[in-house]
Amino acid sequence: LEILHVDDKHTESWLEVWRRKGRAASGRSSYLTGDLFAADGFDGAMAQTDAAAQGHIRRLIVENLRIEAGMRVLEVGCGAGAVLSLLVDTGAALTGADYSEPHVAIARKVLPGVDLRIGEAGVLPFDAAVFDAVFSYGVFLYFPDLAYAARVLAEMLRVARPGAPLLIMDIPDEATHEECEVARRNAGASTNPPHCYYPRAFFERFAAEQLRSCRVFDQQVPGYLNSRFRFNALL
Ligand SMILES: C[S@@+](CC[C@H](N)C(=O)[O-])C[C@H]1O[C@@H](n2cnc3c(N)ncnc32)[C@H](O)[C@@H]1O
Repeated sequence: LEILHVDDKHTESWLEVWRRKGRAASGRSSYLTGDLFAADGFDGAMAQTDAAAQGHIRRLIVENLRIEAGMRVLEVGCGAGAVLSLLVDTGAALTGADYSEPHVAIARKVLPGVDLRIGEAGVLPFDAAVFDAVFSYGVFLYFPDLAYAARVLAEMLRVARPGAPLLIMDIPDEATHEECEVARRNAGASTNPPHCYYPRAFFERFAAEQLRSCRVFDQQVPGYLNSRFRFNALL
């Protein structure tokens, strides 16, 4: 009965998953912050991101990137703009790029003052050396492999001004891979397509090659259960 065989390795690609989620969240006349986080996938049992979590994420970004009014700040993989919406009151000139068209359409609707582009992280649609800070939250887990991630880091570096900080957040830790997959399965979270996990040394090595400092630190976003298995990297 080969006809009944389902190859569960090839259900949907991440791009298809994100477009589907973006379409499902489209068409509303208004969006609260929680709606944007839900559109961006922070709605499952492991991914709850309440007001305390949002405040924590905002502080991490503002403090690590030293965001001030007038700075040009890029978010890679901005989705519907959930995290960008937390930064509007900083007065920074915000820019976001994402490969899911329906997400970018929502972000354009809710963040009229933000420059939002459809674009893939590995080929960022920006000139070189234009941003004072570049960050990415909850995106590297959807990359196909570490080679693609290295290409994205190189792109983030290219569009950043010399010496501008890069902050990569919510990165699955290879050291807790098995434990994380078990926890996610038990919580009913999706495990297909798979997440990409990273050794912390991957970011340290990339930074060393670029003669940059690197601080890798545990992620402790309150109430966000995936945090236990994730880390952040400041380059
Ligand atoms: C979990 S959401 C996070 C969105 C946003 N950073 C936030 O925190 O609200 C992941 C986003 O990454 C985007 N994404 C995943 N892989 C990407 C890639 N290779 N290039 C551009 N965007 C990507 C998806 O379309 C999705 O909007």
